[in-house]
Amino acid sequence: MNKLEKQAIEVLNNNWTGSFSIPCANLYPFQWKWDSGFIAIGFAHFDMPKAEKEIETLLDAQWGNGFIPHIVFHTDNDSYFPGPDFHRSDLHPLASKKYKSTGMTQPPVTGFVLEEMYKISTNKEASLKYIETVIDKVYFNHQYFYKNRDPQNEGLVYIYHNWESGTDNSPIWDDIWATMNPPEYTFERRDTTHVDAAQRPSKREYDHYLHIIEIAKANNYSDEKIAELSPFLVQDPLFNAMLIKSNQSLIALYKFLGDNSDKVAQLEKWQAKSKESFNNKLFDEEIGAYIHYDLRNEKPLRYLSSSSFSPLFAGIPSKERAERMVNVMLEKFGNENQYLCASFDPTSDRFNPKKYWRGPVWINLNWMLFNGLKEYGYNDISKRVKQDSIDMIEKNGFYEYFDSRKEMHKEGKAGYGGNHFSWSAALLIDMLKN
Ligand code: SER
Repeated sequence: MNKLEKQAIEVLNNNWTGSFSIPCANLYPFQWKWDSGFIAIGFAHFDMPKAEKEIETLLDAQWGNGFIPHIVFHTDNDSYFPGPDFHRSDLHPLASKKYKSTGMTQPPVTGFVLEEMYKISTNKEASLKYIETVIDKVYFNHQYFYKNRDPQNEGLVYIYHNWESGTDNSPIWDDIWATMNPPEYTFERRDTTHVDAAQRPSKREYDHYLHIIEIAKANNYSDEKIAELSPFLVQDPLFNAMLIKSNQSLIALYKFLGDNSDKVAQLEKWQAKSKESFNNKLFDEEIGAYIHYDLRNEKPLRYLSSSSFSPLFAGIPSKERAERMVNVMLEKFGNENQYLCASFDPTSDRFNPKKYWRGPVWINLNWMLFNGLKEYGYNDISKRVKQDSIDMIEKNGFYEYFDSRKEMHKEGKAGYGGNHFSWSAALLIDMLKN
């Protein structure tokens, strides 16, 4: 085992609490939905019981309507804002009575994570036995999305908050913030006591984030009301690609398990419709990649981000489209001075390579690109994404995100946000094994 892999295992073991993992100390002291999925993939390579427990714990916090929250507040910890007393998940009549949580979700990665765990497992029989105990909860979660998050019945689900996207402060949202004028809230940020404020969203951005939650809370987190009233209502290509990828995995796993033809048929129905709408509505011919759609204001948000390429991971584009996307990616994100893949278009004036999702490279998106490019036969570029990820971690440590500009990495200070970050470690392990 190489040194980097050993260090990665140490990061994961240190962030393990006994029943779930924190993304990293201080900055993120609870369980996050999409983090837990990526973390489970890492654990699956060396400690399957932890991987299984991680997912089990997350699913234990599922609501009575199938919803899975983006943060589960397992413990009291005031080093994070906004915490459980702000989010007030109890306002929703079907919220978990056992756990406090947020009332928003995050990209639905759990389905494809189960399939990854199955592929990694050296005891397929035991793995299927485990999957049998959790898979219906993931199916129920997909049913929640199609039932409650697709008001025009398109097969594309919306997110109502930027924190649901996972790409919290993407410059894409600037267009939506321009349609809002929230109050100036008084609150104490905690993130900027752990991490340089230059690497985090601004105070004014947080006003917008909190305002959307206030609207949702005033309506007891009713999906119907949120669809009607939220100023933020977006069809996000990353989020929908994760749902499609997870649908595909659930179909495969149910077939392995047998006896679930009704669920397979339903998943196939959702899948066909979702893929078709995704290709019809979210591909921008002029840009040559997938973009976001602002459902509240009924207009496309025509920007390139790493999310634009994530459909490669879900097998969504045709071969021709994939070719165009790869050319666009190399041209705009991939010159020799840049590590792949910046989270936002480096040729845009909204690009900021230090600030969270406004430009830095994230390992989870790189992991998706690495796998997606390989699937489409772009082996050299796929290898480059892997090597770039290894280089950045080797030079700086297991950071949350990295400067995309290679020149910044000379002194090993181009890792930003939290250090000893779980998914950076987990997905590095997976890439090293591939
Ligand atoms: N990533 C968000 C934060 O920074 C929450 O999901 O707090």
